[in-house]
Amino acid sequence: MPLKQKPTGKLISFEGSEGAGKSTQIARLAARLQKANREVLTTREPGGTEIGEQIRNIIVHNSKGDEMCAETELLLFTAARAQLVREVIVPALTRGAIVLTDRYLDSSTVYQGIGRNLASDPVAQINRFAVGNVMPDLTIVLDVPEEVSIARLKQRASDLPDRMERENIDFYKKVREGYLVLAKGMPERFVVVDGTKTPEIIEKKIWSTIEERLK
Ligand code: TYD
Repeated sequence: MPLKQKPTGKLISFEGSEGAGKSTQIARLAARLQKANREVLTTREPGGTEIGEQIRNIIVHNSKGDEMCAETELLLFTAARAQLVREVIVPALTRGAIVLTDRYLDSSTVYQGIGRNLASDPVAQINRFAVGNVMPDLTIVLDVPEEVSIARLKQRASDLPDRMERENIDFYKKVREGYLVLAKGMPERFVVVDGTKTPEIIEKKIWSTIEERLK
């Protein structure tokens, strides 16, 4: 089992569709927490470990990636996560660190479960198997309409959009709605933040949420 007793650290996951502004907000929150003298560790999914980065390459950049079936995709994402939990997250939480992760198990629930129409029970079981009892203390969803996701993706400097980013507008709509449904069902763990506001307003909202929920 990954964790035998409740650690002193906290795990905060950031979720939302592409272009929602997760990485900007993670960097801002990390800086604030460090100023408050907390040990902070930031990580990203899929990836964050050497094995995870290799898995990430297979999923995101594989030129023949379009042939990958949804089941394989789910198992690869959760395999990368299983490694990240045991190699990075658990040791950090045990030290008392605050771990900020760019995506966690809710990404699989939403992208593979809802986005790719995999049945919710096996997705939940596989997710649970991968993370064990290492659940987020708080999950922040940066919510943006699908049109905004697509427009922001187009603005990104990168040349060709990667495999996941080539999805169409209906897919992003499902992803957005999927997160909102999850958040509604688990209000004790989730907070939805309007990702169309300025980075400063979003940062303040996230900080006040952290102060309120994770005292
Ligand atoms: P990434 O380049 O990290 O995108 P972003 O910056 O938007 O997070 O690529 C991750 C992609 O993988 C993104 O499209 C979401 C998708 N994904 C899943 O489909 N399932 C998962 O479990 C995870 C972690 C990510």
